[in-house]
Formats: sequence, C-alpha cells, structure tokens
Amino acid sequence: MRLKDKVAIVVGAGQTPGDEIGNGRATAQLFAREGAKLLLVDRSGEAAEATRAAIADEGGEAHVYRADISREDECRDAVAACLREYGRVDVLHNNVGIGTGDRGPASLSEEAFDHIMDVNLKGPWFMVKHALPSMREQRSGAIVNISSIAAVCASGLFGYKVSKAALNAMTHCLATGNAKHNIRVNAIMPGLMNTPMAVEGIASARGLDADAKRAMVEARDRQVPLGGKMGSAWDVANAALFLASDESRFITGVILPVDGGQSARIG
Ligand SMILES: NC(=O)c1ccc[n+]([C@@H]2O[C@H](COP(=O)([O-])OP(=O)(O)OC[C@H]3O[C@@H](n4cnc5c(N)ncnc54)[C@H](O)[C@@H]3O)[C@@H](O)[C@H]2O)c1
Repeated sequence: MRLKDKVAIVVGAGQTPGDEIGNGRATAQLFAREGAKLLLVDRSGEAAEATRAAIADEGGEAHVYRADISREDECRDAVAACLREYGRVDVLHNNVGIGTGDRGPASLSEEAFDHIMDVNLKGPWFMVKHALPSMREQRSGAIVNISSIAAVCASGLFGYKVSKAALNAMTHCLATGNAKHNIRVNAIMPGLMNTPMAVEGIASARGLDADAKRAMVEARDRQVPLGGKMGSAWDVANAALFLASDESRFITGVILPVDGGQSARIG
C-alpha cells in the first residue's frame, strides 16, 4: 500500500486498443492496487471506463472524467472534479503523448506540429497549472510527466521529439520552482515499449500487414540492450509508482530513462 490515503489524477488513463496493456492503464491499475483513489482523465470516455472497470474488479476506487487536455478549460474542470470528489490531489500523472501526423521538418504541417505541441506540452502544463494551487495549499504533491527517450536520442519524429524535450525542460523548471512548496516534479523517459500505442499505432499508421508488424516488433526488440526485448507498460508503471510515492521524497527534477539501457549508449 505504497499510495495509501493518496488521491491521484492519471491523465491519459485509457489506452489505444491492442494486444498488450498501455502505460496509462497499467499505471492507473498499479496506483489503485497500492491504495490510491483515482480520477481517470481521458479524451475517450470509453477507454477510461475500461480502466475504471478493471480497477473496480480488483476492489479499487476510481472515477472517470472525460477531457481533451489540449483545452485549458477542460483541464481546469478535471482538477475541480477531483477536488469535489476527493477533496485533494496528491499525485498528478501526465501520461498523454501523441505523434499524430508527425514528419520531418521539411514536410511537417504547421497544423500537425501545433496539435502535437498542444497535446504533449500544453496539456501537461494546463493540468499542472490547475493542480498546483491545491498542492501548494496542502504543502505536498508529486507530479510525474511521461516523456520519451526520443527527447534525447536521435529520432525521425520532429514534432514529437521537440515536444518531449520541452516537457523535460518544463519538468526541471517546475521542480525548481515548486520545491519550496514541498511539491516534487519528475519525468520518465520510456524507451521502446511493447504497448498498443507503439506497436498497433505504428503498424496502422504505416499500413503494415501481420508479417510486417511482426518484423517491426523484432526490429524494436533488437535495439534494446537489456535482454534484447522491448519493455512493458508495467516497467513504466513501477517507475511511476516510485516517483509518486513517499519513497522518493528527496527526489525532484529527475528525468528517469526506463529504456533497457538504450539511452546509456549516448552517455
Ligand atoms: N509505448 C512506447 O513505446 C512509448 C515510448 C516512449 C514514450 N511513450 C509515452 O507514453 C505515453 C503513452 O503511453 P500509453 O501506452 O498509455 O498510450 P495510449 O495511446 O495507449 O494511451 C494514451 C491515452 O491518452 C488519451 N489521449 C490522447 N490524446 C488525448 C487528449 N488530447 N486529451 C486527453 N486524453 C488523450 C488516449 O485516448 C489514450 O487513452 C505517451 O506520453 C508516450 O509519448 C510511449
């Protein structure tokens, strides 16, 4: 019960449909198993509801709040809903991240770039902006931002990489600015994970058939130093649990790779 008596907002708590569990759903389930009461925020009410049902099956407590985090009013209302339901916010877990329409810098449209920035960067900031007042008042809080090793490793994805690098910078800025309020802000950089967002998402964006999808999975596995296999959503969830819990009470401003050693190659 490492999150006993804590209230957590998991943003992006649903998931892309697919064979494996996604990062947001695994994190929400693990937080609930460890005693947290949860507000599950997602643009897709249906996906968040499936997470809520899985948590309820295990005896946990969670409520769904449908919101598009690229809209500040919806982020403000999501935090207000959490305060109404539970009276506090101890943990804010910003999981949402997209790469919709991403291309190289010479062909990416302004519209796609803006949308990636709105969701990957402004969305987490809006959630933080509206969660900070109550965290400051209670003089405690833990914020976890889900970044990506794309922020620091070579990546063909221009908008996604820039948004995640900026999210890392935002994490540092928030950590230093809020330490005096006893609020910790850290980020996780997942590497190559076997999640539907990555596998089914990329396969459908590239129009891959079953054989090509299998080849892509094998190619992703080969790039991972530790065990030659992608990680799972539970690897991200376990790191998030540590950063959300009081076990990391002296840790803030950390950008933690969860990547099987992939980013260690760049030193
Ligand atoms: N899977 C990987 O290999 C990998 C690698 C590095 C980083 N990441 C990061 O992990 C995070 C996502 O992981 P996941 O497996 O949970 O993905 P996922 O796609 O399964 O789940 C993300 C959820 O976010 C929701 N969402 C999307 N846009 C939204 C919006 N505007 N407002 C509210 N909700 C929105 C979706 O409906 C979905 O339920 C992202 O930040 C991603 O960049 C993943």
